[in-house]
Amino acid sequence: MSDNKFVKKIACIGAGYVGGPTMTVIANFCPDYQVTVLDISQERIDRWNSDDLPIFEPGLKERVLKARGQNLFFSTDIDRCIDEADIIFVAVNTPTKTFGEGAGKAVDLQFIEQTARRIKENSKSDKIVVEKSTIPVRAAETLGKILHSGNNSVHFEILSNPEFMAEGTGIHDMENPDRILIGSMDTPSGRAARDELIKIYERWVPRENLVTTNLWSSELSKLVSNAFLAQRISSINSISGLCEATEADVDEVARAVGKDSRIGPKFLRAGLGFGGSCFRKDILSLVYLCEHFGLQPVADFWEQVIIMNDYQMERFVQRILSAMFNSVVDKKIALFGFSFKPDTGDTRDSPAIHISKMLLKERARLCITDPHALKNAQKDLEGVEGEIVYEPDPYKAAEGAHAIALMTEWDQYKTLDYKRIFNSMEKPAFLFDGRNHLDHQALFDLGFNVYSIGKPDRTQFNDPS
Ligand code: NAD
Ligand code: UGA
Repeated sequence: MSDNKFVKKIACIGAGYVGGPTMTVIANFCPDYQVTVLDISQERIDRWNSDDLPIFEPGLKERVLKARGQNLFFSTDIDRCIDEADIIFVAVNTPTKTFGEGAGKAVDLQFIEQTARRIKENSKSDKIVVEKSTIPVRAAETLGKILHSGNNSVHFEILSNPEFMAEGTGIHDMENPDRILIGSMDTPSGRAARDELIKIYERWVPRENLVTTNLWSSELSKLVSNAFLAQRISSINSISGLCEATEADVDEVARAVGKDSRIGPKFLRAGLGFGGSCFRKDILSLVYLCEHFGLQPVADFWEQVIIMNDYQMERFVQRILSAMFNSVVDKKIALFGFSFKPDTGDTRDSPAIHISKMLLKERARLCITDPHALKNAQKDLEGVEGEIVYEPDPYKAAEGAHAIALMTEWDQYKTLDYKRIFNSMEKPAFLFDGRNHLDHQALFDLGFNVYSIGKPDRTQFNDPS
């Protein structure tokens, strides 16, 4: 299939947060491979081909510009590129099903299935098909059945190669991965396909970080990794409530506990709970799988991680209400940050969405500010009843507000002139730090009533006695 210029042709179906950046990194490290990223969305592809990339990710733009038009291409010409490719990555979205059997838990595999059918219809030569999307364990079996159905004589070798990058640090994570996981069938063609993928990754990943397993272990490991990470966040968040009740400090507890090398310090930051496109959906998928296999106590165990996450957001809103004299009706609240974490404009399942809706139900007036996520915020809250203003300037957002609620720990919020902000606000001025990001003592000294996660309140309302 390959022409003289390139040793191999790679196609990636799905030009989203995973497809775009992963293929950019591969194109950068493998200039002798032609890499084409494909999507059904013309708008997305047009943006990948413009200066205004559809995704904000530190370091991404420079790398796209380095390879685009050389060996990296973005296109909607899916059928032709499938036909020409040697290796096809599948990086389409796999959201939670919203209808029918398994609604609210199971993964909606329609985009995976559509992609498999399209690959089958347009392949005239053997292909390696790589699952990059996160899918339920044994999905490769379904994929194989679709690809090999009918009288097509083409052989498709399916590999699982889940993506572990986190948004905001995506490029760094892909260039310096803890591990690259490749699952394959233990057959001669399975091992040969696995070796083809190893050839790509070993350009920049040390051999000991290339982990190979059977297909099902690889598929399941991705769900389990996300479940374990989310479980740590829910664990520390569950303790934050107890800290608030007992004057313990959750950051001190996390530091002390995390010093145990068996536990480790990462993913123990208490806050508003986890957001993002994957933790909730992947745990729900795990829960559904456990239920499907009759493992109800296991399903309940993992579901508790989500229940705790939802509780953490509700608890935060309850705290706002009770601090602000049990009513926020007509009070302006400035939300600092809306993305689900800093350094990304992504707002999928951001705690800020849930908290905004709860505050609007209480009839607060919201003014939302964020350096990169205001467009998405507007889409997320479209049609939600209540007063919402979107304001890029945090100083203006806080003007005349009764409270600031920090949703996302953007760096720039640390260095704002809080004296100026305090002076422009209604009094008493409240600050709810949902990410334990700011200097609480300094804010208290300026006159704020400061509430954070898992720490004693710092209020100006001391009992005069
Ligand atoms: P995304 O929604 O950003 O991108 C998916 C893209 O696939 C969209 O542009 C969509 O138009 C396209 N698409 C859907 N059906 C298609 C079809 N039939 N043909 C061509 N294109 C099609 O999703 P994402 O965040 O990139 O996630 C993709 C997968 O990777 C998911 O399974 C997700 O769980 C997993 N994942 C995501 C992350 C992350 O940080 N976002 C990290 C690791 C794994
Ligand atoms: C997460 C995983 O970290 C990636 O390994 C995985 O590839 C990805 O999901 C995926 O499958 O989509 P991501 O969601 O981009 O990556 O970001 P994280 O850094 O994991 O943060 C997720 C959420 O947890 C954020 O809302 C963040 O604020 C929150 N978080 C994280 C905490 O509340 N406390 C912490 O200690 C860490």
